[in-house]
Parts: sequence; C-alpha cells; structure tokens
Amino acid sequence: MSSPAKPDLADVLPRLNGMMREDDLWGDVAGYIPQLATVDSAQFGIAVVTADGQCHVAGDTTVPFSVQSITKVFTLAIALGRSGDQLWHRVGREPSGRAFNSIVQLEQEQGRPRNPFINAGAIVTTDEVLGNREPREALAEIMRFVREAAGTDDIHINEAVAASETDFGHRNFALAHFLKSYGNLNNAPELTLGTYFHHCAMEMTVQQLAMAGRFLIEAPEVPRLVAPSRIRRLNALMLTCGHYDGSGDFAYRVGLPGKSGVGGGILAIVPGRASIAVWSPGLNRYGNSQKGTEALALLARHMDWSIF
Ligand code: DON
Repeated sequence: MSSPAKPDLADVLPRLNGMMREDDLWGDVAGYIPQLATVDSAQFGIAVVTADGQCHVAGDTTVPFSVQSITKVFTLAIALGRSGDQLWHRVGREPSGRAFNSIVQLEQEQGRPRNPFINAGAIVTTDEVLGNREPREALAEIMRFVREAAGTDDIHINEAVAASETDFGHRNFALAHFLKSYGNLNNAPELTLGTYFHHCAMEMTVQQLAMAGRFLIEAPEVPRLVAPSRIRRLNALMLTCGHYDGSGDFAYRVGLPGKSGVGGGILAIVPGRASIAVWSPGLNRYGNSQKGTEALALLARHMDWSIF
C-alpha cells in the first residue's frame, strides 16, 4: 500500500478491503462447532472507531458474525469488577504457549489456568461472573455491559450456535470437570458452561464490535466503563495472551493488543486512538483469522499505529 502524507481512513479501508480480496488464501473455517462450519470463508469486513466516536467501515460490514472468544474480554472486565484481584488466585496472567483448548497444562499446573483467554481460564472467569446466580442473570449482566459499550441494544445471542457448542463441546466439558476436580469451579460444570457457550454465541457486526471495544481505548472522550488502570491491564493481557500460542506472532506482525475469536473476528485496540474490529471467518493454524491478521498488520503499519 502506498503511503499518502496524511493517511485517511475513509480512503485506506476500502483499499485494504480490495487487497484482502486479491487472492483466495482465506484459511479454513472452524470445523469443531457445526454451526460455524457452514459459514462461507470468503468474507472480509473491517470497522475502525476513533476515540472521538467517528466510525469508518469497509467490506462485509452488515453481517452479524459469531464473536466467540472475543467475549472473553468483556467477561474478564466484569469478573474483575465483581472480584477485583481475588480473581488472580483462580487464574494466571501468563501466555500459555498452547492451543486455546489444550488440556495438558491444566493438569500440570493443578487446575489454575495460565490466563483468562484460553478456554480453561475463560470458564473460570465465567464461573466468577456467574457467582451464586442463575445463568440467565449472569448472561443479562454480560449483555448489558456489551450493549452499553457498543451503544446499541441490537446485539443478541444465537441460540443455535450455543446449542451446537453444547452438543459438541466435549473438550470444554473435560476442562470444566478438570477445574472442578481441582476445586477451581464453584458451579456445576453444565451451569458454568451453559453461561460460557451462550456468551461466546453472541453475534455482532464489525461496526458493533469496534464500538463495543471503544471503552478499551483509554481516552477522555470515550465512555468510562472500567477504571483506567484496569483498561491498561486488560490491554496488557490482550497483547500477551489474546491470540493464544499465536500471541507472539500477532504482536510481532501487528504490534497492538488484540483478541481473536474462532468465528474469525479480531478486536484490536490502538491505545489512546482507536478500536478496530476485523472479521474474516477463515482461520490460520492458531485458530485466529487469517485475513483479519493480515489486514491488521497492513493497517497498523500504514497508520503507524504499532505500540512499539
Ligand atoms: O470454547 C470454544 O471453543 C469457543 N466457544 C471459543 C473458542 C475461540 O473463539 C478461540 N479463538 N480463536
């Protein structure tokens, strides 16, 4: 991409969209959740919301997609709001160097997941958000938080996707039972997992997701949903753990805190400046969006947005 003197997002994003469609190397959609396996991989959308609330979009921007693991950022923010630093007794803050659904480390480390973004860690933060409540109360709180962050009530959970994951979520059940056996799950596995599968099955467009991420920018003009010190820590965890065993590669190529989902979405934050959502359902070998990562690498370089 050639570099104009003053990069203008209204010009940059359509060009980026065109570049993403130049070849057919979309990657493969997630196969282990049957409802997601039917999505056409050849789609791409991007939205950038700047701190002052301006939104620029390009590509497939009106399609609601399954946000999946990106919701782990919102549940972590809520869990920290409810429990504060107590949460860190139950879950760590280190990159795992393992696949997002790996089991082996959980046994080696006696039931304390490495971080809140791998599945085992997110099951623990969901359990913390659930507390002693009914799953529907915890889900209502999560939806309230996300809708307030995004500034719209038009964000919903896809029940068919949640059911599909419940039917085929044997690995997550294994992780939850492991956690339970180590005394690190307060609720029955099916209750915590029911809550977890449902928040993962939330759908958003790229514009809604970029808006929902705006509270992580940390700028005077954005809605204040959590304290600035917590925003910095959420961003630190996104940078070091947000792409699982691909986190180092993402930091190297993009240079921004980011959180991926197996539905092909990525939320990336430019601290003090912007919230970016990309979506392209084909995944790379780490289970993160192939074209989404490529697009973010190009955009960050072009806008000089890397935090390094
Ligand atoms: O638990 C799962 O496997 C999915 N609900 C979420 C996994 C996910 O999004 C991994 N991200 N790239």
